[in-house]
Amino acid sequence: MSDILTLEGVDKTYDTGFNALSNINLSIRRGEIFALLGPNGAGKTTLIGIICGIVNATAGRIVVDSHDTQNDFRQARKQIGLVPQELSINIFDSVWNTVHFSRGLFGCPPDDAYLEQLLKNLSLWEKKDSRIMALSGGMKRRVLIAKALAHQPTILFLDEPTAGVDVELRREMWAMIRRLRGEGVTIILTTHYIEEAEDMADRIGVINKGKLMLVEDKHALMRELGRKSLTVLLSKPITQLPTELMRDDLQLADDGASLIYHYSTAETDSGVSELLAQLQSAGIHYQDLQTRQSSLEEIFVSLVEEKA
Ligand SMILES: Nc1ncnc2c1ncn2[C@@H]1O[C@H](COP(=O)(O)OP(=O)(O)OP(=O)(O)O)[C@@H](O)[C@H]1O
Ligand SMILES: [Mg+2]
Repeated sequence: MSDILTLEGVDKTYDTGFNALSNINLSIRRGEIFALLGPNGAGKTTLIGIICGIVNATAGRIVVDSHDTQNDFRQARKQIGLVPQELSINIFDSVWNTVHFSRGLFGCPPDDAYLEQLLKNLSLWEKKDSRIMALSGGMKRRVLIAKALAHQPTILFLDEPTAGVDVELRREMWAMIRRLRGEGVTIILTTHYIEEAEDMADRIGVINKGKLMLVEDKHALMRELGRKSLTVLLSKPITQLPTELMRDDLQLADDGASLIYHYSTAETDSGVSELLAQLQSAGIHYQDLQTRQSSLEEIFVSLVEEKA
């Protein structure tokens, strides 16, 4: 897959002297869903703002589909749709005018059939003549998405698209994002909902304190950093582990009723069968086994804590 967006050595120091981003190098592949994960204040919105020309970078180079944002800004910006984190529309305007006007802003010829379909896809067609101020919060968010897509961009940024959105709308938005990807739109989203990244993204970038700490294929990330635990529920509680079973990766639960064994999903041999054989020869019987895979959330938290 070719790259649709590249950032080289992007740096941002705000006027306050605060260094919000340092030396960001990142390539986004055409047609992927890329999730940028990071705690509050990590620099996600700043990074998106720089790519979209809302914030000036202190240093670095950004190329959007072969257009340099420095000397070819209009063409670069035309490729991008942005759903901002904050509501940023004229609430006195109607839904239809909002999308119509936005399309015109990017110099696209009118295409009412496209805009009609767009509003229908977002369940906004019935509200096309309503003023934004008369819409619910979820509808307003959908208008932001419609506005971002009005000029048929090839890259869509969604900055915290589902923060404060109810479960049903969130699911609808995920479906819509997948549909857009199916149509060839490259999606970059920031989110605090790890399960969102886990569910949707092809690749994940972790940003913390202005530094891009990791960019990785989602499955590889979960495989490499993923941990599994096996809980062995004992037939009869024991008071302590026999010495031959004392090892770092095995613990006896406080109530003595189960053993917890930790192993890495990256190892070819999990060591599970060996452990079970050892239990048998030690005369420890069990009635049930449960395995659990660490979630992206645990991986993320450990990464941010480790390197912070
Ligand atoms: N205009 C500004 N002037 C000075 N500092 C700023 C400005 N905008 C953002 N910052 C600082 O830059 C850092 C990154 O902010 P940013 O909004 O990019 O974070 P974020 O990752 O989007 O956070 P959140 O998850 O809360 O949206 C923060 O410490 C913030 O206070
Ligand atoms: Mg933000």
